[in-house]
Amino acid sequence: MNTLPPEVMLSEAQIASRVNELAAEISKDYADKTPLVLVGVLKGSFIFLADLARRLTIPRTIEFIAVSSYENGSQRSGAVRLLMDVRGNIEGKHVLIIEDIVDTGHTLDYLIGMMRSHGPASVRTCTLLHKAERAEVDVPIDYTGFSIADEWVVGYGLDYAERDRTLPYIGIVRPEDRATS
Ligand code: PRP
Ligand code: MN
Ligand code: MG
Repeated sequence: MNTLPPEVMLSEAQIASRVNELAAEISKDYADKTPLVLVGVLKGSFIFLADLARRLTIPRTIEFIAVSSYENGSQRSGAVRLLMDVRGNIEGKHVLIIEDIVDTGHTLDYLIGMMRSHGPASVRTCTLLHKAERAEVDVPIDYTGFSIADEWVVGYGLDYAERDRTLPYIGIVRPEDRATS
């Protein structure tokens, strides 16, 4: 069934501008901290990571990790599950975890512990979106793109039941489109 596209929360231009700012800040902070490894959290971070990584002006490599904490789009499955670990050796390297969104914080909390177990030189975190009012665990976030209200957001990598990940902007799922997967 065709419905209206999600309402715009953050436009492509707003996202691009903020990604540029974050890239400049990270490039400055890591100028003397190399090698830098960006660890993208699949699936949600894939577009943010692609854009951010290409705007950095310092040497960097890319790794991916896959976890899942939701099932059926909106139903919480409970614990965070590790689906795929990093492929390369990150021991002694500076790790920057790249997330699309921090909601309850459970995923990032788990990932920080996972990354530390590999013996890196440092572990920091970067998220495009942060829903502060939903926090259940206190996780350190070093770089935040936007703090947002508690809405179901999609696009720029984020999904709702796997839908709308490739929407170019961050949109709000319309109430009539919820729970119809
Ligand atoms: C989403 C999002 C974060 C996590 C945030 O991933 O991409 O990784 O949930 O939620 P939390 O702070 O409450 O843990 P999801 O599990 O939906 O998987 P996906 O990235 O593959 O969509
Ligand atoms: Mn995710
Ligand atoms: Mg998801």
